[in-house]
Amino acid sequence: MTKTKIILDCDPGHDDALAMMLAVASPKIELAAVTTSAGNQTPEKTLNNAMRMLTLLNRQDIPVAGGNRTPLVKPLETAGNVHGKSGLDGAELPDPDFKPQDMTAIELIAKTISESKEPITLVVTGPMTNAALFLRVYPELGQKLERIVYMGGAMGLGNWTPSVEFNIYVDPEAAKIVMNAGIPLTMAPLNVTHKAQITKEEIAELDQIDNPVAHAFYGLLNFFELYHEAPKWGFFGAPLHDPCTIAWLIDPDMFESEYMNVDVETKGELTTGETVCDYYELTGKPKNTDVLLNIDRDKFIQLIKDSLATFNK
Ligand code: RIB
Ligand code: CA
Repeated sequence: MTKTKIILDCDPGHDDALAMMLAVASPKIELAAVTTSAGNQTPEKTLNNAMRMLTLLNRQDIPVAGGNRTPLVKPLETAGNVHGKSGLDGAELPDPDFKPQDMTAIELIAKTISESKEPITLVVTGPMTNAALFLRVYPELGQKLERIVYMGGAMGLGNWTPSVEFNIYVDPEAAKIVMNAGIPLTMAPLNVTHKAQITKEEIAELDQIDNPVAHAFYGLLNFFELYHEAPKWGFFGAPLHDPCTIAWLIDPDMFESEYMNVDVETKGELTTGETVCDYYELTGKPKNTDVLLNIDRDKFIQLIKDSLATFNK
């Protein structure tokens, strides 16, 4: 079986951590490196959280490097109200028992690509600052990327302002660079991640899987679910945004998608960060993105359960 070799650029963050677990557990994915961005929490906390997760997953062999301190232009805005003070509240996680690489995120991305014989897919589950910086500093290596798969944006929805999703909100200028780089793109917008909800009952079932990783995600997801109980969301559970990227790489048939042009607003008073998805081909701009719009939620939840079970001793 040919594996998809990926670099995960993330801002753990509960759902980032779940995406990382899916990648580590899958025989179809080779997680070649992890880089971290500032978003859900400060750059220090997201780096520490990535290291804690890889320690929990017993994958200290995977190189990790921290990235952006701030977005390209805007000041950093974090999401402690969603992910808690640590960025991964809800479970007792081990302290990292290994060190990050002595380089920046973009240097680790460049090193991983230039040393790889196989093509590499960059998966971005936080603000796109590191991806944009990498493309600007190493354009020739950027063009070697097989694809960029990202969680971010939406068609007509928002979760941080009425029309803007958090990852793109934090760094819209970076998103514009990535979306116009001419690299094949797959987008997991809120339109599909809001259908990828896990219920409290399903979270409780995870605790029946008797290994430390499953028990940790039981605590993490119970915490993450709390924020999404507010009636205004109309949710029946917690939307698992970031794991949609890895689930698509593992089993694309789990999703339905449409190919269209996607760009991002960076100047609107009310709409900066809004992803503008040309569903009806009204702009004449070339299509550049596979936009995931539907998911087989039952298959998705089963993938999470099966992945957690791989950590049984
Ligand atoms: O809007 C959801 C996205 O913002 C997810 O990636 C979540 O982890 C946060 O980063
Ligand atoms: Ca994230």
